[in-house]
Amino acid sequence: MAGAELIGKEEIKEVMDVLETGVLMRYGFDKERKGVFKVREFEEAFATYCRAQYALGVTSGSSALKVALTAMDVGPGDEVIVPAFTFLATYEAVLEVGAIPVMADIDDSLNLDPDDMEKRITPYTKAVIPVHMCGAPARIDKIVAVAEKHNILVLEDNAQGCGGSYRGKMLGTFGNMGIFSFDYYKTVTTGEGGMILTDDKDLYRRADWYHDHGHDHNPNVSRAMEGRTILGFNFRMNEIQGALGLAQLRKLPTIIAEQRKNKATIKEALGNVPGVGFRNIPDPDGDTATFLGFNLPEEGMAEKFQKALSAEGVDTVCFKKNSWHYLPNWEHFLARSTANSKKYPFMDPSYRGKVNYDRSTIPQAEDILGRTLVMGISVWMPEEKLSKIKQGIEKAAKSL
Ligand SMILES: Cc1ncc(COP(=O)(O)O)c(C=O)c1O
Repeated sequence: MAGAELIGKEEIKEVMDVLETGVLMRYGFDKERKGVFKVREFEEAFATYCRAQYALGVTSGSSALKVALTAMDVGPGDEVIVPAFTFLATYEAVLEVGAIPVMADIDDSLNLDPDDMEKRITPYTKAVIPVHMCGAPARIDKIVAVAEKHNILVLEDNAQGCGGSYRGKMLGTFGNMGIFSFDYYKTVTTGEGGMILTDDKDLYRRADWYHDHGHDHNPNVSRAMEGRTILGFNFRMNEIQGALGLAQLRKLPTIIAEQRKNKATIKEALGNVPGVGFRNIPDPDGDTATFLGFNLPEEGMAEKFQKALSAEGVDTVCFKKNSWHYLPNWEHFLARSTANSKKYPFMDPSYRGKVNYDRSTIPQAEDILGRTLVMGISVWMPEEKLSKIKQGIEKAAKSL
């Protein structure tokens, strides 16, 4: 649960700063707010932490994806390549902007396979969304190289990897834009919330306009007198979220350090189980250690081991069977059951391509995810809890 485990007096202090002014909105009310700008401060701190030029706070990771895709001018007629293993929101965001998501395979990092990604490129491909699943980096250098070769935009979905990096560069800063989620499960939480990063001033401005009804946020005039260029909508982060984010961000190094220690202890115990291998993490130094992925030689063995672990009170997830994070299991998506009765954008006449969401086209995901078990790692795992897990692993190993 990461950030949620650490909510305490620091968060209370930041939130009280806001409540004492009574100004919950990030814009306007300059006199009443007495210099308190929590969302702005959080954006600045987040951009500095990630070494990015621009940061924009929004209402969720899902809206961050939609705002970023809109800023990148992805829309009807376009295809966007997305890995088969991700949370549903990555696909929903593509549909939200009227584009068509194209399913791609994963590699042994459990993230988008750059070779398969290249094979999925068509004349309609406008962007790719690599997702750093379960807190660890994709082969993002290769993905960006393939995208550049084919003139495709990159939007990193780093909802699950806040604070992670690849060869010293922060995840979320490799693509044209990167997004983060601060929902209640995430490494840093503001209850609900999200962030967009970019080094591109034009993309930032378009995102900034779009997320607030087109307001150009001109500091020299009142909010009512601000100009507008494009239409937008409301995805504004509020001051309470900004306040929580500030306190949580300061805790991020501790969160990652503690999770790494706990993960290393459990990994050592699993390493003694014959046949157990581990998820390939392209840069272990950049792992946020929110999850531990390990595998067995065959799906049947993984299933057996998972049951035995569960009997010992050790919970794991097999994502091939998970109903929210693996496309072949989304029956409503496969049936094109959009919220609109026209099945838009699947039935959009301006779309000239053809997509195939058949699981037979993602053999690596089918194989690897079936054999992989994933364990959540907490920040606070006292010795007693870790010992129980270690004993559980030892006992479950006898089932193999
Ligand atoms: C990979 C991924 N992308 C996007 C999201 C959406 O984030 P939010 O829950 O903040 O809307 C999530 C949330 O779980 C996620 O895991």
